[in-house]
Order: sequence, then C-alpha cells, then structure tokens
Amino acid sequence: MEERFIAKKAPKNLQEFTSRWEAPSNIALVKYWGKSEPQLPKNASLSFTLSRAKTQTEVVFSPLEKPNKKVQFSLIFEGKEVLSFRTKLETFFERILPYQSFLAHYKLTIKSQNTFPHSSGIASSASSMAALAACLVDFESNFTSFSEEEKLAKTSFLARLGSGSACRSVQGPLMAWGVHPLVKNGSDLLAVPVTNSHPIFASYHDTILLIDKGQKQVSSTLGHKLMYNHPYAEQRFVQADAHLAQLLPILQQGNVDGFISIVEKEALQLHAMMMTSDPYFILMHPNTLSVIQKIWAFRKETGTSVCFTLDAGANVHVLYPNEVASQTKQFIDAELLQYCENRQCVHDTVGAGIKKY
Ligand code: PMV
Repeated sequence: MEERFIAKKAPKNLQEFTSRWEAPSNIALVKYWGKSEPQLPKNASLSFTLSRAKTQTEVVFSPLEKPNKKVQFSLIFEGKEVLSFRTKLETFFERILPYQSFLAHYKLTIKSQNTFPHSSGIASSASSMAALAACLVDFESNFTSFSEEEKLAKTSFLARLGSGSACRSVQGPLMAWGVHPLVKNGSDLLAVPVTNSHPIFASYHDTILLIDKGQKQVSSTLGHKLMYNHPYAEQRFVQADAHLAQLLPILQQGNVDGFISIVEKEALQLHAMMMTSDPYFILMHPNTLSVIQKIWAFRKETGTSVCFTLDAGANVHVLYPNEVASQTKQFIDAELLQYCENRQCVHDTVGAGIKKY
C-alpha cells in the first residue's frame, strides 16, 4: 500500500455530487510493453499527450444508506451499457478502494463518451481511465486539502491502476512514467511531466491514419503477459531505458533527426516483440507497411521532418512539427489516405492533459 495516496474517511454528512472531466489519449514515443503486479512497468516510457482524441466522463456520486463492500456503479458508454467495460471497471474499483474507501458509501452513475470515431482502433482506455480518475479525485478534493500538484499526482496514480498508460494522460505535452536515472522524480506509480523540452515538440501534430478500424486482435492485457518468458524481454527492457536516455537530451536540444530515429525504432521494436512472442502475432497490415514506406520515401525526397509511430494495432500515427504541417498534410491527403479505411484519419495535436468540461 502506498500510504501517501490513502484518502481520509468519508465525511459525516454525505451529499450528492456531480463531477465532469475530460482526458485525452496519449501516444507513446518510448513504449511500455511488459508489467508486473500491480500495474508496474518493466521499463520507463515516455509519451506525447494528445488533445483532440479524448474521453468525456460524468460521475454522479449518490450517498447510500449503508456502505457496500464493493464500489456500486452503473456505466453508460455512448448511450449504452457495455459489458466488457464493466468487468474492467470492477477490477479498477477493487484496486482503488483501499485508496478511496469513502467510495463504499456512494453509488456512482458514470456516463462517458469519446470524441474520436467509434471503433476506430484508437485506444480509449488511457483517456477513459484518466477522465474517470480525475472525477474521483475531484470528489475527494471536496473534503481533502490537496495542492494542485498532489491532485495531479493522485489522479495519475489512480489512472495507472485502471490502465497503465492512462497515468501519462493527466498532464502534457510530454510525460514520463517509470523510474529512470535521467527522469527527475520518475516513478513506477505515476507519470510526471518532462520539463525543459524544446518548444518544437509542443508544436507536434499526430495524424492518426485509420488503417483498420476493427477490434484489436490482441488486448494489451494479454500483450503485456506475453512478455513473461519472452526470449527477448530482458534485452527489450534494457533497450527501452537506453532509448529514453538517448531521447531526453534530444528533446531538450530540439534535435528532430535524433527524435525520428528513436521514435521509429521504438515502434518497430514493439511490433518485433509481438512477432516473437508465444503465441506470436502480427498486428500490422499490408497497408501499414505501405504507409511506412511512403513516409520514408517522402522524407528522403523532400527532407521533411515527418516520422511514424505505432500502437498495438495496425493504425499509423504520423508525427510532424507545426512548421512542416501544411506540406505534410498535403502529402497525407495525396499519398496516405488511400491506405485508410474509407480514407479516414484523425488530425490531432500535442496537448496539456485533463480538464473540467
Ligand atoms: O496501458 P495499456 O495496458 O493499454 O498498455 C499500452 C501499451 C502500448 O500502448 C502499446 C504502449 C504504451 O506505452 O502506451
């Protein structure tokens, strides 16, 4: 148990309270793949917080006559009850109840929606867990004197217990999660902002190409488990930490070429881990590879600082600084949209994290 995150007991006079927070998705530049209990990363990771792809969540806390052993909640996602989300939330509430025991005195009515296209293959667990954690901490702050910093730390801590990468969606534009010799105040329990990065990185765009909008073939829960007994796991964890050590000075210097090299290596290593696990799988589609080749050719021909990264799926995240946004968008329209389902993409930009709405 982490003593500093244990909340006070519920107040004597319980009252209904409504909280509404939104949280963005994030895209890892150095990937987290492999964990130990409870949701502790095997290596440090670093991400861009996004701004347009986000989840909006409302929680109504209604007092109960008698406290429950478990957290009582109902969940409506985009107007419907979704059973698979319910199971995930049950686990989440079990994990966080020791840190917010006052929740046993309330019924939570949760309503949530995403601003990105439905079933787009864009991971929503990070944004949804961060938005929910923000509502929970907002409620706790009614009877706790938190500093702003403590509030953000607790939100990131709770979000991590829902979905590891969610802890990185709380602030922005660059967040690091995990103990690492070069990350000041780095922690496995929560993410911290990366300070002193060059302003060019706060101007980055992420155009998410929707190559395959279907369900992921492999959930990240299963994916992380496949790193147990993986023949290359230990080497991968060492390499991820080394990539982060290389990336931090690159971020400070504004070294865009250095950035491209680390970010693309990380994307391909993540997928290399999937291809070499047991069971093995390939989440890239032929169109994912076509897009990567087009990006490489465009960069070589024009010298434009555009690169790609991948999540645990077939979609491609095209990353570029604002100063080359207009030519890159023209290139995306002319050359890349043909590889997307219904020519769909989401134009996102780097952002600042959670916000009341
Ligand atoms: O937070 P999870 O358990 O959904 O895992 C996320 C894993 C990746 O998205 C593939 C990488 C990352 O660091 O975000």
